[in-house]
Amino acid sequence: MIDVKAAVFVGPNEPLEIRDLTISDEPGPNEVLVQMAASGVCHSDLHALDGDWETPAPLVLGHEGAGEVLAIGSEVTDLAVGDHVILSWTPSCQKCEFCVSGNPVLCQLANETAYQHVFFDGKPRLRDGDEDVKSFLAVGSFGSHAMVPASAAIKIRRDAPLAQAALVGCAVTTGIGAVINTAKVEPGSTVLVVGCGGVGLNVVQGARLAGAKQIIVADVSEEKLELGRKFGATHTVNSRERDLAEAVRELTDGRGVDYAFEAIGLPFTIEACYEAVRRGGTAVVVGQVADGVKISIDPFVMSDQEKKLIGSNYGSSRQSIDFPKILDLYMEGLVDLDSMVTGRIPLEGVNEAFEGMRKGQGIRTVIEY
Ligand SMILES: NC(=O)c1ccc[n+]([C@@H]2O[C@H](COP(=O)([O-])OP(=O)(O)OC[C@H]3O[C@@H](n4cnc5c(N)ncnc54)[C@H](O)[C@@H]3O)[C@@H](O)[C@H]2O)c1
Ligand SMILES: [Zn+2]
Ligand SMILES: [Zn+2]
Repeated sequence: MIDVKAAVFVGPNEPLEIRDLTISDEPGPNEVLVQMAASGVCHSDLHALDGDWETPAPLVLGHEGAGEVLAIGSEVTDLAVGDHVILSWTPSCQKCEFCVSGNPVLCQLANETAYQHVFFDGKPRLRDGDEDVKSFLAVGSFGSHAMVPASAAIKIRRDAPLAQAALVGCAVTTGIGAVINTAKVEPGSTVLVVGCGGVGLNVVQGARLAGAKQIIVADVSEEKLELGRKFGATHTVNSRERDLAEAVRELTDGRGVDYAFEAIGLPFTIEACYEAVRRGGTAVVVGQVADGVKISIDPFVMSDQEKKLIGSNYGSSRQSIDFPKILDLYMEGLVDLDSMVTGRIPLEGVNEAFEGMRKGQGIRTVIEY
């Protein structure tokens, strides 16, 4: 057994508690034990904390992490102790029809286990004395150590800084992947991105990489709109001041955009994205809504104008391919991760980091262990 210092979710709207937990130092045959180096704080953690999503307690939150392999299971062949890894929150079984057809984010087994915050055997790995403690999405990166299925530890180059690498574990891959993998935006496209947070700004980076000619960003914060420009936006709309779809039509000669990405998770901004796309265009839902929230779309417009509404989970990524590729783009200066890290804190500062996120401050706060 080894000691794990972790930030534990004890119930909705309660501050996370810093506790000393334990975990086995002997990973299961297909697992690895990771010494965490860094973890980003993502809005999906905040959804759990705020009670938007039914989440069991006690549970170690965090799912956007990177670290170093401390121990490997007997059947793990592609990782070694000391490897640097980014953690994935969709461990893949590599056997189900979704994994075999190249869609590991839809893995059947991950849906039944990791999405319930337990491991492939249905059990948690952490303990608080006699009590079991779950790990958010079978990652739980708000802890000094994490046990993960081997398919959730993706080996990366050693020269990449781990704070920046951690962000590739969620926001960066989610945003860039939504553009490149899910929507497959073509060069010369017009793109709208609603919400300039950690995820939305990476949609902007993805649109820039894809060669979009016009990238319109919308947010309610002028500071975030300015960041949108920094990451590649050509136009900004303050959606507190303007009707979004109307402003987008004005900026596109009445046509609407080819692609619109919602990166907040609110019903009215998803509806506005659908309204803002041109005939035959595609609106992509990236932001995640609270449990039970519904949207309203006119199905006549859908058929008559052939407008598409699609979803994107984890940027439709194949993590073992996409994590190292995105990190290479960063190391070559084609993707900006340095400006994404707007705060570095010890684990004890995690509740303040959520407070900042609620107020819309900064892009990503990174916990460093
Ligand atoms: N699909 C996926 O796989 C996936 C992965 C990660 C996160 N997410 C989801 O993406 C969403 C965004 O996450 P994030 O970490 O970037 O959040 P964030 O808090 O960093 O950013 C949200 C942004 O939305 C802006 N905003 C809030 N209300 C607005 C409004 N009414 N109009 C315009 N802008 C508004 C805020 O100012 C902020 O800039 C969350 O719902 C999160 O759960 C989805
Ligand atoms: Zn699978
Ligand atoms: Zn996330």
